[in-house]
Amino acid sequence: MMESISERIARLKQEKGAVILAHYYAPAEVQDAADFLGDSLGLSRIAAGTKAGTIIFGGVHFMAETAAILCPDKTVLSPAPDAGCSLADSIDAATLRKWKEAHPDGIVVSYVNTTAAVKAQTDWCCTSANAVKVVGSLPEGRPILFGPDRHLGGHIMKVTGRKMELWDGVCTVHDVISPEMIRKAAGEHPDADILIHPEAACSSDAETLAADNVFFYSTAGMLRHVAGSGRKKFVIATETGTLHQLVKEHPDRTFIPLSPGLVCRDMKKVTLEKILGCLEHGDGRVIIDEETRQRAMLPIRRMLELE
Ligand code: 13P
Ligand code: SF4
Repeated sequence: MMESISERIARLKQEKGAVILAHYYAPAEVQDAADFLGDSLGLSRIAAGTKAGTIIFGGVHFMAETAAILCPDKTVLSPAPDAGCSLADSIDAATLRKWKEAHPDGIVVSYVNTTAAVKAQTDWCCTSANAVKVVGSLPEGRPILFGPDRHLGGHIMKVTGRKMELWDGVCTVHDVISPEMIRKAAGEHPDADILIHPEAACSSDAETLAADNVFFYSTAGMLRHVAGSGRKKFVIATETGTLHQLVKEHPDRTFIPLSPGLVCRDMKKVTLEKILGCLEHGDGRVIIDEETRQRAMLPIRRMLELE
């Protein structure tokens, strides 16, 4: 009998000592083929800790790059090297350098959704899971330059009370999530918890933040919330790929996507065929020049050590 593509991937993975990591926004069949799933923080930790010699990263390119920064002795393969991210594309190293020159005593906090070259110009990295903690740990009295997501930045300012300079970037998927959409969902589903990713445009809206049944989480945080909650119904205000694991882990609960249009096309560029190409031909190897890698590793390590 002919091997299916999933069976070939499983066999080659064993033979080559490779692991597959996948983000919750990756297509369902990619999530199902993965050894580990996670949010960007969790996947960075897994990449840093794995003993496997090869990491295939089922996510957008900056995620594979982050793994390559952390794992110089491993082969990191990106099945879809053309999978970009509107946030990572919104600031480059030269522009960040100019921003820093305008605030010479500033502390630069970059969201993990940035290129290696931007991370190399950064003091602290953060993800949606730890951004509040990272900013809360910074010394008072110095300007904080936060980028590139202005919605996440606005959310952190509201939650921590710290003032920051914000870069004007957005995630084009989450940017459409308005306070009005959340209020409408709350009206239609008064018995549901509403779980929102802080990249959403409503993340610093006072009324949304104050609502009893509204919670802001990274993707993995949403899964943890559901696991620990007695509720039966949840509105999911993030990329719809997240619903795959939620439904799989909790078939007895109801999950309602805030909008079926919340789809990251770049995440969907990762396919089983491309993962097979990584395993069979070593496609998509992530190479970062050593000086950039070493400088980019410092803000990521700082973040990982804060936990
Ligand atoms: P998480 O860190 O919550 O997984 O988010 C990553 C991301 O790209 C969200 O758009
Ligand atoms: Fe980037 Fe948004 Fe896609 Fe996440 S959902 S990878 S932030 S474009």
